[in-house]
Amino acid sequence: MNFQYILVEPRYEQHIALIRLNRPKELNALCLELMAEVRDALKTLDADEEVRAIILTGNERAFAAGADIKQMAGKTAIDMLLIDQFTTWDTIKKIKKPIIAAVSGFALGGGNELVMHCDMVVASETAMFGQPEIKIGVMPGAGGTQRLTRVVGKVNAMEMVLTGKFITAERAYELGLVNKVVPVELYLEEAVKLARDVAQQSPLAIRLAKEAVLKAYDSPLSEGLEFERKNFYLLFATEDQKEGMAAFVEKRAPIFQGK
Ligand code: HXC
Repeated sequence: MNFQYILVEPRYEQHIALIRLNRPKELNALCLELMAEVRDALKTLDADEEVRAIILTGNERAFAAGADIKQMAGKTAIDMLLIDQFTTWDTIKKIKKPIIAAVSGFALGGGNELVMHCDMVVASETAMFGQPEIKIGVMPGAGGTQRLTRVVGKVNAMEMVLTGKFITAERAYELGLVNKVVPVELYLEEAVKLARDVAQQSPLAIRLAKEAVLKAYDSPLSEGLEFERKNFYLLFATEDQKEGMAAFVEKRAPIFQGK
């Protein structure tokens, strides 16, 4: 997988793939081409049976400092409508395999929205999260007002979206935006550890469980519970369920085949 703005290692280690945003001079600003590459890489990895977890990262200074302001600056509303960039984001939202963001430095605007498209987040102590769009006369457009509010609550979302101020990794942890905060030299390693913990489970159970957790964002409780129940029943059709439960009874580690 050769791309211009990202580096992809489909076999970073067994069952784990890694995507690195790679526009360091621009702090990984998310130009349209970069986002299309992220989408294409994720789709390919989603279809790759060897891959069970995907890590999305940037570099130490920046995960991503937002959409590319220089690319957007001269656009009209109709240009933006016709570019239709959110179809790309909608595809990313539908990736079935778990995605873990490993974040250091800036995760701003579209960068923070991309983090919120991931399923879990490991942050370095130096990470800064924010929705600074208000400072350039606009507002979040890739789910920032909706996903952030669901995670951090109304007043915290309002503060971030209406002032554009950044929050630290520690504050992001308090607010439930990130799973873990670690020293900068460890953030990728910790994300890999988390990916390993996920990758050793049954991929089918992981897929249906991810789908069910995401359903909680999008549906009333009774509908979500119904959905959960169906996925739970469905897993009893898998060999991995037989293997997982037999291994428990036989006091050994299960070997999941994804069948
Ligand atoms: C384009 C960007 C950029 C961006 C940084 N750069 N962020 N280019 N789009 N979002 C470029 C700078 O122009 C500069 O290039 C280089 O990266 C280094 O940035 P500096 O500003 O010199 O670094 P620093 O002084 O350390 O400040 C870092 C920063 C600042 C605080 C992150 O760059 C910043 O405020 N960036 C914009 C953050 C932002 O507003 N994001 C939201 C974008 S709107 P040159 O060539 O000048 O050296 C958005 C909407 C999403 O995300 C909608 C849905 C997709």
